[in-house]
Amino acid sequence: MSAPVITHVDETPAVTSLRRKDLLGIADLAPDEISLILDTAEAMKEIGSRPIKKVPALRGKTVVNLFFEPSTRTRTSFEIAEKRLSADTLNIASASSSVVKGETLADTALNLEAMQPDMIVLRHPSSGACHLLSRICRSAIINAGDGMHEHPTQALLDAFTIRERKKRLAGLKVAIIGDLLHSRVLRSNIHLLTKMGADVWVCGPPTLFPTDITRCGVRATSAIEEAVADADVIMLLRIQLERMEGAFLPSLREYFNVCGMTEARLRRAKPDVIIMHPGPMNRGVEIASEVADGPYSVILDQVANGVAVRMGVLYLLAGGVEHETAV
Ligand code: CP
Repeated sequence: MSAPVITHVDETPAVTSLRRKDLLGIADLAPDEISLILDTAEAMKEIGSRPIKKVPALRGKTVVNLFFEPSTRTRTSFEIAEKRLSADTLNIASASSSVVKGETLADTALNLEAMQPDMIVLRHPSSGACHLLSRICRSAIINAGDGMHEHPTQALLDAFTIRERKKRLAGLKVAIIGDLLHSRVLRSNIHLLTKMGADVWVCGPPTLFPTDITRCGVRATSAIEEAVADADVIMLLRIQLERMEGAFLPSLREYFNVCGMTEARLRRAKPDVIIMHPGPMNRGVEIASEVADGPYSVILDQVANGVAVRMGVLYLLAGGVEHETAV
Protein backbone atom coordinates (compact mmCIF):
# COMPACT_ATOMS: atom_id res chain seq x y z
CA MET A 1 0.00 0.00 0.00
CA SER A 2 1.60 3.29 -1.02
CA ALA A 3 1.11 6.17 1.38
CA PRO A 4 1.63 9.88 0.80
CA VAL A 5 4.93 11.23 2.12
CA ILE A 6 4.07 14.06 4.45
CA THR A 7 6.47 15.41 7.06
CA HIS A 8 6.07 17.85 9.89
CA VAL A 9 8.56 20.27 8.37
CA ASP A 10 7.08 20.56 4.92
CA GLU A 11 3.42 19.73 5.32
CA THR A 12 0.90 22.53 5.04
CA PRO A 13 -2.64 21.61 5.95
CA ALA A 14 -4.76 22.19 2.86
CA VAL A 15 -7.91 22.45 4.96
CA THR A 16 -9.04 24.73 7.78
CA SER A 17 -11.90 22.58 9.03
CA LEU A 18 -12.85 18.91 9.22
CA ARG A 19 -15.10 17.69 6.41
CA ARG A 20 -17.39 15.80 8.76
CA LYS A 21 -19.91 16.09 11.61
CA ASP A 22 -18.35 13.26 13.68
CA LEU A 23 -15.00 11.68 14.47
CA LEU A 24 -15.77 7.96 14.17
CA GLY A 25 -12.37 6.64 13.12
CA ILE A 26 -9.07 7.41 11.46
CA ALA A 27 -10.09 5.31 8.44
CA ASP A 28 -12.40 8.15 7.36
CA LEU A 29 -9.80 10.95 7.67
CA ALA A 30 -7.70 12.33 4.83
CA PRO A 31 -4.01 13.10 5.52
CA ASP A 32 -4.67 16.86 5.39
CA GLU A 33 -7.39 16.48 8.05
CA ILE A 34 -4.97 14.52 10.27
CA SER A 35 -2.36 17.27 9.83
CA LEU A 36 -4.97 19.91 10.65
CA ILE A 37 -5.87 18.15 13.92
CA LEU A 38 -2.20 17.76 14.91
CA ASP A 39 -1.44 21.41 14.10
CA THR A 40 -4.53 22.59 15.99
CA ALA A 41 -3.46 20.45 18.95
CA GLU A 42 -0.09 22.25 18.98
CA ALA A 43 -1.90 25.56 19.51
CA MET A 44 -4.05 23.92 22.18
CA LYS A 45 -0.98 22.61 24.01
CA GLU A 46 0.22 26.19 24.46
CA ILE A 47 -3.05 27.01 26.25
CA GLY A 48 -2.21 24.28 28.76
CA SER A 49 1.03 26.07 29.66
CA ARG A 50 -0.70 29.35 30.55
CA PRO A 51 -1.32 30.37 34.18
CA ILE A 52 -5.05 30.43 33.37
CA LYS A 53 -5.67 27.36 31.23
CA LYS A 54 -9.01 28.37 29.79
CA VAL A 55 -10.29 29.94 26.57
CA PRO A 56 -13.89 30.71 25.60
CA ALA A 57 -13.88 28.77 22.30
CA LEU A 58 -16.70 26.37 23.24
CA ARG A 59 -18.63 28.68 25.58
CA GLY A 60 -22.33 27.82 25.34
CA LYS A 61 -21.67 24.32 23.94
CA THR A 62 -22.70 21.22 25.87
CA VAL A 63 -20.65 18.01 25.71
CA VAL A 64 -21.83 14.66 27.12
CA ASN A 65 -19.17 12.09 27.99
CA LEU A 66 -20.99 8.75 27.75
CA PHE A 67 -18.78 5.89 28.91
CA PHE A 68 -19.98 2.26 28.86
CA GLU A 69 -16.48 0.86 29.62
CA PRO A 70 -13.90 1.80 32.27
CA SER A 71 -11.47 4.58 31.40
CA THR A 72 -8.91 6.67 33.26
CA ARG A 73 -6.97 8.57 30.59
CA THR A 74 -9.56 9.09 27.84
CA ARG A 75 -12.49 10.17 30.01
CA THR A 76 -10.42 12.44 32.21
CA SER A 77 -8.57 14.11 29.36
CA PHE A 78 -11.78 14.71 27.39
CA GLU A 79 -13.29 16.36 30.46
CA ILE A 80 -10.20 18.52 31.05
CA ALA A 81 -10.14 19.42 27.34
CA GLU A 82 -13.82 20.40 27.38
CA LYS A 83 -13.34 22.54 30.50
CA ARG A 84 -10.25 24.27 29.06
CA LEU A 85 -12.42 25.24 26.08
CA SER A 86 -15.23 26.48 28.42
CA ALA A 87 -17.81 23.88 27.31
CA ASP A 88 -20.50 22.73 29.72
CA THR A 89 -19.74 19.06 30.39
CA LEU A 90 -21.49 16.14 31.98
CA ASN A 91 -20.29 12.59 32.55
CA ILE A 92 -22.51 9.55 32.33
CA ALA A 93 -21.19 6.11 33.25
CA SER A 94 -23.24 3.03 32.37
CA ALA A 95 -23.32 1.82 35.97
CA SER A 96 -25.12 4.97 37.14
CA SER A 97 -27.45 5.30 34.13
CA SER A 98 -30.75 3.66 33.16
CA VAL A 99 -28.75 1.23 31.00
CA VAL A 100 -28.67 -1.00 34.09
CA LYS A 101 -32.50 -1.09 33.91
CA GLY A 102 -32.36 -2.35 30.33
CA GLU A 103 -32.46 0.86 28.27
CA THR A 104 -30.78 0.46 24.88
CA LEU A 105 -27.86 2.54 23.65
CA ALA A 106 -30.08 4.11 20.98
CA ASP A 107 -32.79 5.08 23.47
CA THR A 108 -30.18 6.44 25.90
CA ALA A 109 -28.69 8.58 23.13
CA LEU A 110 -32.06 9.84 21.86
CA ASN A 111 -33.07 10.83 25.40
CA LEU A 112 -29.80 12.71 25.85
CA GLU A 113 -30.34 14.33 22.43
CA ALA A 114 -33.69 15.65 23.62
CA MET A 115 -31.72 17.86 26.04
CA GLN A 116 -29.86 19.48 23.11
CA PRO A 117 -26.19 18.64 23.67
CA ASP A 118 -23.79 19.69 20.92
CA MET A 119 -21.44 16.72 21.15
CA ILE A 120 -21.46 13.20 22.58
CA VAL A 121 -18.16 11.47 23.41
CA LEU A 122 -18.87 7.72 23.42
CA ARG A 123 -16.90 4.74 24.67
CA HIS A 124 -18.68 1.43 24.16
CA PRO A 125 -17.72 -2.28 24.13
CA SER A 126 -19.46 -2.87 20.76
CA SER A 127 -17.60 -2.16 17.53
CA GLY A 128 -19.75 0.22 15.47
CA ALA A 129 -21.65 1.74 18.41
CA CYS A 130 -20.46 5.23 17.39
CA HIS A 131 -21.66 4.70 13.81
CA LEU A 132 -25.12 3.85 15.15
CA LEU A 133 -25.24 7.08 17.18
CA SER A 134 -23.92 9.05 14.22
CA ARG A 135 -26.90 7.92 12.14
CA ILE A 136 -29.57 8.76 14.73
CA CYS A 137 -28.12 11.82 16.49
CA ARG A 138 -27.90 15.45 15.43
CA SER A 139 -25.02 15.98 17.91
CA ALA A 140 -21.43 15.46 16.82
CA ILE A 141 -20.31 11.97 17.89
CA ILE A 142 -16.71 11.43 18.97
CA ASN A 143 -15.45 7.86 19.23
CA ALA A 144 -13.58 7.37 22.52
CA GLY A 145 -13.05 3.66 21.76
CA ASP A 146 -15.62 1.23 20.29
CA GLY A 147 -15.03 -2.46 20.94
CA MET A 148 -12.16 -3.82 18.85
CA HIS A 149 -12.78 -1.29 16.05
CA GLU A 150 -11.10 2.11 16.53
CA HIS A 151 -9.79 4.56 19.14
CA PRO A 152 -9.10 7.57 16.92
CA THR A 153 -8.10 10.15 19.52
CA GLN A 154 -5.54 7.68 20.94
CA ALA A 155 -3.90 7.35 17.52
CA LEU A 156 -3.97 11.12 17.09
CA LEU A 157 -2.26 11.71 20.45
CA ASP A 158 0.26 8.99 19.61
CA ALA A 159 1.03 10.71 16.29
CA PHE A 160 1.26 14.09 18.03
CA THR A 161 3.79 12.64 20.51
CA ILE A 162 5.86 11.01 17.76
CA ARG A 163 5.85 14.22 15.68
CA GLU A 164 6.81 16.28 18.75
CA ARG A 165 9.88 14.05 19.34
CA LYS A 166 10.87 13.13 15.77
CA LYS A 167 9.58 16.23 13.88
CA ARG A 168 8.02 13.94 11.27
CA LEU A 169 6.00 10.79 10.77
CA ALA A 170 6.97 9.85 7.22
CA GLY A 171 9.77 7.32 6.88
CA LEU A 172 9.94 6.37 10.56
CA LYS A 173 10.06 2.69 11.47
CA VAL A 174 7.26 2.19 14.00
CA ALA A 175 7.10 -1.27 15.65
CA ILE A 176 3.74 -2.05 17.29
CA ILE A 177 3.99 -5.10 19.55
CA GLY A 178 1.42 -6.97 21.63
CA ASP A 179 -2.19 -8.10 21.48
CA LEU A 180 -2.83 -7.22 17.83
CA LEU A 181 -6.09 -9.15 17.63
CA HIS A 182 -8.13 -7.23 20.18
CA SER A 183 -6.63 -3.77 19.86
CA ARG A 184 -8.64 -0.79 18.61
CA VAL A 185 -5.53 1.32 19.28
CA LEU A 186 -3.64 -0.80 16.72
CA ARG A 187 -6.32 -0.37 14.06
CA SER A 188 -6.44 3.41 14.44
CA ASN A 189 -2.64 3.67 14.52
CA ILE A 190 -2.25 1.55 11.38
CA HIS A 191 -4.70 3.78 9.51
CA LEU A 192 -3.00 6.95 10.70
CA LEU A 193 0.65 5.99 10.39
CA THR A 194 0.32 4.39 6.94
CA LYS A 195 -1.65 7.40 5.65
CA MET A 196 1.18 9.64 6.88
CA GLY A 197 3.95 7.57 5.30
CA ALA A 198 5.45 5.71 8.27
CA ASP A 199 6.97 2.23 7.88
CA VAL A 200 4.75 0.22 10.25
CA TRP A 201 5.74 -3.19 11.62
CA VAL A 202 3.41 -5.27 13.77
CA CYS A 203 4.55 -8.09 16.05
CA GLY A 204 2.82 -10.52 18.38
CA PRO A 205 2.34 -14.23 19.02
CA PRO A 206 0.66 -16.04 16.09
CA THR A 207 -2.51 -16.61 18.17
CA LEU A 208 -2.98 -12.85 18.51
CA PHE A 209 -2.51 -11.97 14.81
CA PRO A 210 -5.57 -10.74 12.85
CA THR A 211 -5.68 -12.87 9.67
CA ASP A 212 -5.78 -9.97 7.18
CA ILE A 213 -3.28 -7.67 8.89
CA THR A 214 -0.77 -7.46 6.02
CA ARG A 215 -3.51 -6.14 3.71
CA CYS A 216 -3.38 -2.95 5.79
CA GLY A 217 0.01 -1.90 4.38
CA VAL A 218 2.10 -3.07 7.35
CA ARG A 219 4.91 -5.60 7.75
CA ALA A 220 4.19 -8.44 10.16
CA THR A 221 6.49 -10.69 12.18
CA SER A 222 6.31 -12.87 15.27
CA ALA A 223 10.03 -12.27 15.96
CA ILE A 224 10.35 -9.32 18.30
CA GLU A 225 14.06 -8.93 17.49
CA GLU A 226 13.14 -8.30 13.83
CA ALA A 227 10.36 -5.86 14.76
CA VAL A 228 12.53 -3.70 17.03
CA ALA A 229 15.70 -3.73 14.89
CA ASP A 230 16.54 -0.09 14.04
CA ALA A 231 13.07 1.05 15.12
CA ASP A 232 12.50 4.78 15.67
CA VAL A 233 9.37 4.15 17.70
CA ILE A 234 8.28 1.10 19.70
CA MET A 235 4.65 0.99 20.76
CA LEU A 236 3.54 -1.74 23.17
CA LEU A 237 -0.07 -2.89 23.29
CA ARG A 238 -1.82 -4.22 26.35
CA ILE A 239 -2.69 -7.91 26.58
CA GLN A 240 -6.49 -7.60 26.79
CA LEU A 241 -7.40 -10.54 29.00
CA GLU A 242 -10.95 -9.22 29.36
CA ARG A 243 -11.56 -9.70 25.60
CA MET A 244 -10.05 -13.23 25.47
CA GLU A 245 -12.43 -16.17 25.77
CA GLY A 246 -10.08 -18.90 24.54
CA ALA A 247 -6.54 -19.90 25.48
CA PHE A 248 -4.61 -17.38 23.38
CA LEU A 249 -1.46 -17.54 25.52
CA PRO A 250 0.21 -20.37 27.46
CA SER A 251 0.84 -17.96 30.34
CA LEU A 252 1.64 -14.29 30.92
CA ARG A 253 5.19 -15.26 31.95
CA GLU A 254 5.62 -17.07 28.62
CA TYR A 255 4.27 -14.01 26.78
CA PHE A 256 6.82 -11.76 28.52
CA ASN A 257 9.63 -14.16 27.62
CA VAL A 258 8.65 -14.14 23.92
CA CYS A 259 7.27 -10.63 23.30
CA GLY A 260 7.91 -8.52 26.42
CA MET A 261 9.89 -5.31 25.94
CA THR A 262 13.08 -5.55 27.97
CA GLU A 263 16.18 -3.35 28.17
CA ALA A 264 18.14 -6.02 26.24
CA ARG A 265 15.64 -5.98 23.35
CA LEU A 266 15.56 -2.19 23.40
CA ARG A 267 19.27 -2.10 22.53
CA ARG A 268 18.46 -3.39 19.02
CA ALA A 269 16.46 -0.22 18.23
CA LYS A 270 17.82 3.17 17.09
CA PRO A 271 19.78 5.00 19.84
CA ASP A 272 17.08 7.69 20.02
CA VAL A 273 14.14 5.28 20.01
CA ILE A 274 11.02 6.27 21.93
CA ILE A 275 8.87 3.82 23.88
CA MET A 276 5.11 4.25 23.86
CA HIS A 277 2.14 2.54 25.50
CA PRO A 278 -1.48 3.71 25.38
CA GLY A 279 -2.14 2.45 28.90
CA PRO A 280 -3.22 0.88 31.09
CA MET A 281 0.08 -1.05 31.28
CA ASN A 282 0.55 -4.63 32.45
CA ARG A 283 4.04 -4.27 33.93
CA GLY A 284 6.05 -7.47 33.57
CA VAL A 285 3.75 -8.72 30.78
CA GLU A 286 4.11 -6.51 27.68
CA ILE A 287 6.71 -4.17 29.18
CA ALA A 288 9.39 -4.37 31.88
CA SER A 289 9.19 -1.67 34.54
CA GLU A 290 12.77 -0.56 33.75
CA VAL A 291 11.64 0.22 30.19
CA ALA A 292 8.31 1.80 31.15
CA ASP A 293 10.04 4.15 33.60
CA GLY A 294 13.32 4.48 31.68
CA PRO A 295 14.85 7.34 29.69
CA TYR A 296 13.31 6.31 26.34
CA SER A 297 9.76 6.22 27.63
CA VAL A 298 7.31 8.92 26.48
CA ILE A 299 4.30 7.19 28.02
CA LEU A 300 3.36 10.08 30.30
CA ASP A 301 3.96 12.56 27.45
CA GLN A 302 1.27 10.63 25.55
CA VAL A 303 -1.14 11.19 28.44
CA ALA A 304 -0.29 14.90 28.65
CA ASN A 305 -0.71 15.31 24.89
CA GLY A 306 -4.11 13.62 25.04
CA VAL A 307 -5.60 16.80 26.50
CA ALA A 308 -4.25 19.01 23.69
CA VAL A 309 -5.30 16.59 20.95
CA ARG A 310 -8.81 16.21 22.37
CA MET A 311 -9.08 20.01 22.65
CA GLY A 312 -8.14 20.18 18.96
CA VAL A 313 -10.75 17.61 17.96
CA LEU A 314 -13.52 19.25 20.00
CA TYR A 315 -12.63 22.69 18.66
CA LEU A 316 -12.55 21.61 15.03
CA LEU A 317 -15.78 19.60 15.22
CA ALA A 318 -17.46 22.61 16.83
CA GLY A 319 -16.62 24.75 13.84
CA GLY A 320 -12.90 25.41 13.99
CA VAL A 321 -12.01 28.66 12.31
CA GLU A 322 -15.40 30.17 13.21
CA HIS A 323 -13.97 30.33 16.75
CA GLU A 324 -10.45 31.40 15.80
CA THR A 325 -10.53 34.76 17.58
CA ALA A 326 -11.68 33.08 20.80
CA VAL A 327 -8.49 30.99 21.06
N1 CP B 1 -5.54 4.61 26.44
C1 CP B 1 -6.78 4.51 26.98
O1 CP B 1 -7.80 4.46 26.26
O2 CP B 1 -6.81 4.50 28.34
P1 CP B 1 -8.13 4.48 29.22
O3 CP B 1 -8.81 3.16 28.99
O4 CP B 1 -7.70 4.70 30.63
O5 CP B 1 -9.01 5.60 28.73
